[in-house]
Amino acid sequence: MKITKICCIGAGYVGGPTMAVIAQKCPDIKVTVVDLNEARIAAWNDPDTNNIPIYEPGLSDVVAEARGRNLFFSTEVEKAIDEAEMIFISVNTPTKTYGSGKGMAADLKYIELCARQIARVSKSNKIVVEKSTLPVRTAEAIKNILDNTGNGVRFQILSNPEFLAEGTAVQDLLNPDRILIGGDTTEEGQHAINALVDVYANWVDRARILTTNLWSSELSKLTANAFLAQRVSSINALSELCEKTGADVNEVAKAIGMDSRIGPKFLKASVGFGGSCFQKDILNLVYIAKAYGLNEVADYWGQVIIMNDHQKRRFAHKIVTTLYNTVSGKKIAFLGWAFKKDTNDTRESAAIYVADDLINEQAELHVFDPKVGENQILSDLNYLDSRTPEENRKQMTVAENPYEACKGAHAIAVLTEWDEFRNYDWKKIYDNMMKPAFVFDGRNILDAKKLTEIGFVYKGIGS
Ligand code: NAD
Ligand code: UDX
Repeated sequence: MKITKICCIGAGYVGGPTMAVIAQKCPDIKVTVVDLNEARIAAWNDPDTNNIPIYEPGLSDVVAEARGRNLFFSTEVEKAIDEAEMIFISVNTPTKTYGSGKGMAADLKYIELCARQIARVSKSNKIVVEKSTLPVRTAEAIKNILDNTGNGVRFQILSNPEFLAEGTAVQDLLNPDRILIGGDTTEEGQHAINALVDVYANWVDRARILTTNLWSSELSKLTANAFLAQRVSSINALSELCEKTGADVNEVAKAIGMDSRIGPKFLKASVGFGGSCFQKDILNLVYIAKAYGLNEVADYWGQVIIMNDHQKRRFAHKIVTTLYNTVSGKKIAFLGWAFKKDTNDTRESAAIYVADDLINEQAELHVFDPKVGENQILSDLNYLDSRTPEENRKQMTVAENPYEACKGAHAIAVLTEWDEFRNYDWKKIYDNMMKPAFVFDGRNILDAKKLTEIGFVYKGIGS
């Protein structure tokens, strides 16, 4: 079966970039991305592609090329479902905030709504693709909903998890390490798998397209994120030991990373990992393991989160103790708010938690991030519900530029590894600060030697 019309439900960080690249690489396929969020769709349709709702290097060019040709963004969800032969579900699957599994399980209500809507609207056979990250065996639930409509329409369900990382989404989509497609082992299931393989084969080498059964595919996504996050927590755990022993975590990471069995990537000690995926997916993995009575498995992975929470709290604590045990009334500048560089996404960013701890200590925070604005920063802080929005507002100023953020500050904390931070006029920043002038580099990106020569007291992570 050759696919000519694709619909994607969910125009977020995954649905938007993924579909833009499919449309760019498959001009013969009409790709319609739908979302309930009207403002988001309007932004995707903004005539100036620099105003699309997601900042990703290279994305606005891809959208400019394909939009209006074979890429469309719309709020007409039912029409797009009806037309398409293949429907990707790319809606959010956040951690549950209520009921059983609260704080651990993935909330599948948006997924179920999509499945019910597809079941209700479809008049012809469809391939439904799970693009969202889902607990293992979710396809079974989706299948139950789709197979009980009684209207004779037949559905095949595939799992096709997305491995892109934010900040490098376009490059990751253009040159993926692998594409993973899980499906039924029946003949019909294999036909559906082949139809999706053919879509990706327009630009991805077939040797990199891996096909598995549904459950392996669903579980591989959670596993990949758990392994990646575990590496960060592992190096972060050692960063604390480095600080006690005189070892330097950058040197340790380099030394172990040159072992080809370990490899050099994902060994950067930091103020803690953030993002919408790692914590959510590990909590989900822990929940699933517990549900099967596998307590040791659950505890093993749970430790990755415990370590990450510790690393964030430890960073805030270090700022307080270094500043003579009080930051009350002191101005502290934050460079960076996004959870990593080259994205405007702030979900679960370590900066939010460090800010919350420092505000508890009555610090006055002044934040600058190249891509995140005031509304987002304040709403992230308010979402924690630690104090009233008015109280947060009083302690938090969002600066127009880094020099203003740092002017008169007692200390600077680097929370995101934006490249531009390295190239600031650090002498000018130093001259305008209170003395002693402290820098807490939560990403180990600044030139410690140069800053120390200028006069800063420089504190990195793990040295
Ligand atoms: P997101 O919140 O940015 O986007 C989800 C979109 O779905 C929202 O715009 C929302 O309005 C829309 N939506 C929800 N229910 C809907 C419905 N019933 N009909 C129409 N639209 C609906 O989320 P995201 O970051 O794109 O993540 C989506 C999924 O992909 C999640 O399961 C996530 O775990 C997974 N994932 C994310 C990343 C990442 O880097 N963000 C990477 C890989 C996988
Ligand atoms: C992650 C996975 O990498 C991706 O495959 C998946 O599809 C979605 O989740 P993302 O969260 O976008 O992607 O970014 P990633 O590069 O994985 O970084 C996650 C967090 O870990 C960031 O806060 C980053 O700063 C931190 N990190 C990463 C470190 O602290 N040290 C590292 O060495 C690597």
